[in-house]
Amino acid sequence: MKYLHILPVIGVFILVGSCRPLDKEVSSDIYFQRADSLLQLLTLEEKAGQMTNIGLTAITQGPFWNDFDTLELDTAKLRYYLLENHIGSIQNKGIYPPPKEEWHRIIKTIQDYIARHARHNIPVIYGMDAVHGANYTAGSTLFPHQIGLAASWNPELARLTGEVTAYEMRASSQAWNYAPVLDVSMQPLWGRIFETFGEDTHMNNVMGVAFIEGQQGESISDTTRVAVCLKHFVGYGTPFSGKDRSPAYIPEHYLRQYYIEPFRHAINAGALTVMLNSGSVNGVPGHADHYFITDILKGELGLKGFVLSDWQDVDRLETMHHVAKDGREAVKIAVMAGLDMSMTPYDADFAKHVVDLVNAGEIPMSRIDDAVRRILYVKFKLGLFETPYHDPAGYDKFGSAEFAELSYQAALESITLLKNQDQILPLAYGTKILVTGPAANALTALNGPWSRTWAGDDPSYDDPGKKTLFEALQHTFGEQHVMYTPGTDYEGDVESERHLLNLARNADVIVLALGERPATEKPSDINELDLQPNQIELVKRLHKSGKPVILVFLQGRPRVVRKIEPLADAILMAYWPGHEGGRALASLLIGSENPSSKLPYTWPRYSGSLYTYQHKGSERLGQTFDMDGFNPQWEFGHGLSYTTFQYDALKLSADTIQAGEALHLSVRLTNTGNQPGKEVVQLYIRDLVASITPDHRKLIAFEKVYLAPGQVKTLDFIVAYEDLKFVNLDNEWIVEHGDFNILIGGNPDDMLTERFFLNLKGGLK
Ligand code: BGC
Repeated sequence: MKYLHILPVIGVFILVGSCRPLDKEVSSDIYFQRADSLLQLLTLEEKAGQMTNIGLTAITQGPFWNDFDTLELDTAKLRYYLLENHIGSIQNKGIYPPPKEEWHRIIKTIQDYIARHARHNIPVIYGMDAVHGANYTAGSTLFPHQIGLAASWNPELARLTGEVTAYEMRASSQAWNYAPVLDVSMQPLWGRIFETFGEDTHMNNVMGVAFIEGQQGESISDTTRVAVCLKHFVGYGTPFSGKDRSPAYIPEHYLRQYYIEPFRHAINAGALTVMLNSGSVNGVPGHADHYFITDILKGELGLKGFVLSDWQDVDRLETMHHVAKDGREAVKIAVMAGLDMSMTPYDADFAKHVVDLVNAGEIPMSRIDDAVRRILYVKFKLGLFETPYHDPAGYDKFGSAEFAELSYQAALESITLLKNQDQILPLAYGTKILVTGPAANALTALNGPWSRTWAGDDPSYDDPGKKTLFEALQHTFGEQHVMYTPGTDYEGDVESERHLLNLARNADVIVLALGERPATEKPSDINELDLQPNQIELVKRLHKSGKPVILVFLQGRPRVVRKIEPLADAILMAYWPGHEGGRALASLLIGSENPSSKLPYTWPRYSGSLYTYQHKGSERLGQTFDMDGFNPQWEFGHGLSYTTFQYDALKLSADTIQAGEALHLSVRLTNTGNQPGKEVVQLYIRDLVASITPDHRKLIAFEKVYLAPGQVKTLDFIVAYEDLKFVNLDNEWIVEHGDFNILIGGNPDDMLTERFFLNLKGGLK
């Protein structure tokens, strides 16, 4: 596989920012022609079936949410869904995660059943939430979640982990991935922020494209690649209340500036399918929004494939959003808004309503034909008609040590060192460690949700041979040097102070692994952002020992830790780093590896003060009218290293540019410490005066650079004319005459800056 050649040079010099369209197939029209020919042969009922997506356990024996440890297909249910209702798509699983051989047996049985019994041999397109590896196949490689990839600031890791995920999905006979999540999230309360690339649009653009290039490759018909499904169009990631699936209020010019762009880049990179936002934006449910789906997504962004609903969200137009009086009207609203396929996922009612609505003249056949044509197009393009499933024996790298090594590299680069008082880290071999906390001795604490099960919190599906943080520390520091006690659970009682202090007496340092019980979607909703009180109490009790305290957070969100931050000598944010996260943390703690991650979001200091790095000038105004109001715990882009970097010699190609011109700049970077390390060079611009309040700063480029101690490198960047644009109140991207600042550096509180002038008026300034 391609990544194996690239792996040794990861991090040596990574250039980012490219968005080249990937799809180089001869002509996509061939697939539309094949879709058109087939479409002509289909009855209305067959078309409605193609538009319907059910859950796998709708066709297996037992109840939908069965807890069997094997999945057996039910012949009567197969007949009902696949023959009588012509269902065209199936997704995911129940609770138990089958190994790849069982996935092959299940999907082969389904596809062969269609080939043998259906009027037309149209394979189902099988959808999967493989969001950090092929996570629903037992034994697959589990990577850091998307937020960790963003924290690496290394798009090559998104590409390579995407490539392996696609390979392991195809090894499981799956060809369609419900990933990446391209919801820019400016809401740290939201329980799914860990599934995103964070709060910055440029980061989402770059990481999204890299992930898609890895997953889709040159052609999605390649049997080591899959088709992506972008989620969740649009505005899902910034709910006003912070609760999952709850309303967002985002003016259209902001939607265009911050939230739609990652989808545009992804579609330009070849993405063919998109899942909708379960919530609502400005009062309009995502599944009812003709303007967003048909005008913007299919029209302006030019989506060639199809639009999928989220889980049961057509029904929810009636039951939750109250914009439809019954299920039939909900189907009409969604399909007329531009929905092509409904994830029902428990029944075939959607298909029945579609037939009824077309027969009643309430949905024109042209809309149905458009939807089915898009679906068939993707099925042809994926090669499903030729290869509806794959022999898992042909995928000998599945779950291999090589893939685990990539996961380890990704985890290493994703873990952010937030604090390192008096260079307490790294720790020497032989240091006596007391490791404790709810996340210290659990694989579920490393992998988080979407790991073997949806919640990811059931240790009965733990993979043998993988190491928890405690086990990894024992391995790295010597078994005899590492003690463990749980301390407390995610919530609940704390071990007695006496017991804890007794243990601490025999240790040189205390490593506290704190965080959140794995959860996603509605179960991840919280009412306050503060870390749970019992975990805070554990830190306080252990601090009394006088021994240095190192906090490690394994969690989906940046929880408020203001009260315990001063009690800690070092702090690491590990997000949910995946199966090799324990090993990676141990290597960082002992210093055989050097941290190189930076925060992909702003970490709040107070639950009631939620800002993002883009914030406006008025958010900087403090209580005493000084400009000290923006005061997060740690800023977007913050992250420490065991070495030091110095920036100097910032040079701009001009102090004035004209319309359409780019500005070139160079800066000199030196590793001034005594460790090799990777630095994330961040380039921002600040528009000094604009007709609508400009952002405090805007990320326009970044580059991760490896330097040996003493090594010096001059880096070149381009500020494109496009980078100076923003969306005005008429929803147009515009540029305005005037001054801009350049900010460049590795940490937000220490940036080199220069000013330049954009002259749109001709003549002199
Ligand atoms: C989630 C989606 C996911 C789908 C299928 C929904 O509840 O919001 O992100 O792809 O379920 O599992």
